[in-house]
Amino acid sequence: MADAYFSLFSLILLLLPLYILIFLYFIVRPRPVRVPIKNRHVFITGGSSGIGLALAHQCAQQGSDVTLLARNVSKLEEAKESIKLATGRDVRIFSADVRDFESIKKVVEEVGEIDVLVCNHGVYMPQELETQELEEIRFMIDVNLMGTFHLIKAALPGMKKNRGERGPGSIAIMSSQAGQVGIYGYTAYSASKFGLRGMAEALQQEIIADNIHVSLIFPPDTETPGFVEENKRRPQLTSIIAASSGAMKADEVAKKSLNGIKSGTFIVPCNFEGFLLSVSTAGLCPQRSFLMAFMEVVTSPILRIAGLCFQWNWYESIEKWHAQKK
Ligand SMILES: *[C@@H]1O[C@H](CO)[C@@H](O)[C@H](O)[C@H]1NC(C)=O
Repeated sequence: MADAYFSLFSLILLLLPLYILIFLYFIVRPRPVRVPIKNRHVFITGGSSGIGLALAHQCAQQGSDVTLLARNVSKLEEAKESIKLATGRDVRIFSADVRDFESIKKVVEEVGEIDVLVCNHGVYMPQELETQELEEIRFMIDVNLMGTFHLIKAALPGMKKNRGERGPGSIAIMSSQAGQVGIYGYTAYSASKFGLRGMAEALQQEIIADNIHVSLIFPPDTETPGFVEENKRRPQLTSIIAASSGAMKADEVAKKSLNGIKSGTFIVPCNFEGFLLSVSTAGLCPQRSFLMAFMEVVTSPILRIAGLCFQWNWYESIEKWHAQKK
């Protein structure tokens, strides 16, 4: 008799993952969605170089009507040429500074309804808080955070219009792995990128009823002109701590981003390391995939231990570095 109870008990226990899976299947919110991009208007900021340009190429390739916004006119024209050459498609280009709300509003009014808004612009200046000029800190917050507010605020009324007939829309926001974990030398940069996460989580709740879906993209170091230039001034400790498997190609990041946008994924990592980082920092963020939710649930204790090991390693490096300097 006791034996029978025991095997019944182990059976229930063995089936526990299945119960959790079924439970998650029913409760994950928001529900899965597909956001098509063919024959739809995709608006990309920071679109004249790096990840933005790579995304523009891929969207044009897949039949989107692409609009690019950036500051530098000659780079925009180069981008337009290269996309025309590669895909045969015309893209519209606009020069504006995302810090200037009025000019952003004007551009958005001129281009008409947007289906997919990609807030990809960003500036990156690594330095310790103590020595970084306040002007630079403000610049990063203004461009990365306020600039994204400006864009979304300007584009949202048009994006909501006739959404019923036009199908699901998307707002994609380019964060960074430095928006998931704070690293030495990234005080201002990380603050601006963490800020985007708070915005995105709240925004998704505000616009879900309008059938607009938020994707928050977390690329690792990426080989872009901006990154290569600014990285020359990266503090030594930043390089020691952030030493990773090397920088990703902009094309690869763009591909992952686009897949994330099309599948309406909220948190979009770009490589395996980023995937682990996303799972371990899932927190209370929305999750549309019950399989991913399951992954988050079962791996969380292990990933927390891994996270603590990283912290241990980083603090050891910092200690060693200071000891050497003395
Ligand atoms: C615009 O880009 C071109 C080509 O990359 C560069 O030579 C020029 O200095 C840039 N202009 C500004 C105002 O940054």
